Amino acid sequence: MSFSETPAWWKEAVFYQIYPRSFADSNGDGIGDLPGITSRLDYLKDLGIDSLWISPIYQSPNDDNGYDISDYLEIGPEYGTLADFERLSAGLKERGLRLILDQVLNHTSDEHPWFIESRSSRTNAKRDWYHWVDPKGYDAAGKPIPPNNWKSVFEGSVWEWDDLTKQFYLHLYSRKQPDLNWRNPAVRQALHRVLKTWATRGADGFRLDVINQIAKRDGYPDVPPVTGEAGELLLLDALGCNNPPQAEYLEEMHREVFAGTELYAVGETWFVGPENTLDLTAYDARRLHGAFYFYFHSAQSGADHFRRFYELYEATRGRSWLTVTLGNHDSRRSLSRFGDPERHPFASATLLATWLLTLPATPFLFQGEELGLTDILFNTIEEYRDIGALNRYAVDLAAGKSPAEALAAAQASTRDHSRTPMPWDDSPGAGFTTGKPWIGIPESHQPLNAAAAYANPRSVFHAYRKLLALRKRVKSLVYGDWAPLAQPGLVLAYRRGTWEGHPAVEVYLNWSSEPQPWPTAAPATETLWANHADIDATALRPWEARIHLAL
Ligand code: GLC
Ligand code: CA
Repeated sequence: MSFSETPAWWKEAVFYQIYPRSFADSNGDGIGDLPGITSRLDYLKDLGIDSLWISPIYQSPNDDNGYDISDYLEIGPEYGTLADFERLSAGLKERGLRLILDQVLNHTSDEHPWFIESRSSRTNAKRDWYHWVDPKGYDAAGKPIPPNNWKSVFEGSVWEWDDLTKQFYLHLYSRKQPDLNWRNPAVRQALHRVLKTWATRGADGFRLDVINQIAKRDGYPDVPPVTGEAGELLLLDALGCNNPPQAEYLEEMHREVFAGTELYAVGETWFVGPENTLDLTAYDARRLHGAFYFYFHSAQSGADHFRRFYELYEATRGRSWLTVTLGNHDSRRSLSRFGDPERHPFASATLLATWLLTLPATPFLFQGEELGLTDILFNTIEEYRDIGALNRYAVDLAAGKSPAEALAAAQASTRDHSRTPMPWDDSPGAGFTTGKPWIGIPESHQPLNAAAAYANPRSVFHAYRKLLALRKRVKSLVYGDWAPLAQPGLVLAYRRGTWEGHPAVEVYLNWSSEPQPWPTAAPATETLWANHADIDATALRPWEARIHLAL
């Protein structure tokens, strides 16, 4: 099967991720909500995206901002009602936009009725819906010893003791996010029903949270002791991901929910390389349509890391379809991470956009990237909200770090970098809220507001707009074959082949803050898009990005 034989809406669509708490607040309570999103649909349509992905909007105690669901089928009251969801859905349909919802099927909240029942007694019918395990033994003080040494992604053991029934339950994330037991077919059926219900309510597909952690190692074996930075976490995740029954679980879910529909499934998948990506997304395996490959997110710097796309493409070429993203609500801002926001904010932001929108892969933008938003800095720990950063801060203090050191660690790594409100205009609440926002609006973001960006034809926003329109018009940017042109150090250059009458194009990206020699002769063909008005035949300028018709 080649790309050209299998067009699909989700291959051509560009997705835009909304973090609903921080998108638009309609009622002044400081929390973004569904009517807020509905009120901004014209902005999104005008930008030129095709589909939204909205992070969880369900009932939740918000220990992890909605990734701890207490009712899969109810809208969280802070976000609105089912009627608000219907209005949003209708607004999207009117504009020809689609919607995929975020579903968290690896774990629930500890306040979900399933877990409340499960923990109530060892003989409860839902006992086996979660992972309940006996202690390894008891220490001299009579304290139960956890079944193994796994560390939670949010610090501490993955095992939480429950005194009522004298067993531990497993939570890969916070103790308020107990992991569901996918070995139990009743659990799987209940989760399929959740997806089917939202499909009936108008969802066009799902982003499936940590979907390659659903299968747990039989017997919950210890991970070998390791030293070094984040070593234990790494090992847990490496062992916690892609375990054997996963393929069957995903195939079953595909048969039950996706087969024979147009619904799209993209997995949030950790610790996958080219091989696993193919395994998860191969057309003939019928598991997922897309799997996020996070290599770029953990990359420290530029061109060489992004060149890893070449391997991924070669390993999956013609056999599966890729997705590409530069950032999301769990990462730092892509511009701060990969560009040069101090010296070349416009050029580096638009180079990143050019990369994202010219690959044979479904692009996912994250809210605010189109405004060139950068990382944030709060001066006190009280201003941060991310449970991961707050837990780490407490652990650092307990381990003897000074408050200043612990704060510096939180400032560097917090997921709040990408979670602050969208700046819509220059009013006091930035047009996000008329009340007090649930997390501060960084001063540095105010001048980057959407209204100002809209008024400035040389803004990052208008560059995204043009690139999105180009990807829509020149379909070879979606389906054309992809081949590197030349691979010198800091320049990425590649060609997209013709597709059904659409022309071949060449892309040149100077992934650095210094001028770089052209990898080939400077193209003499028509410029389809560039972040500089003219071409300099002697060198590519800092962060210069160009798309040309190929000869
Ligand atoms: C995913 C989400 C993240 C959440 C975690 C647990 O990684 O993107 O925000 O904390 O899963 O659900
Ligand atoms: Ca609100």
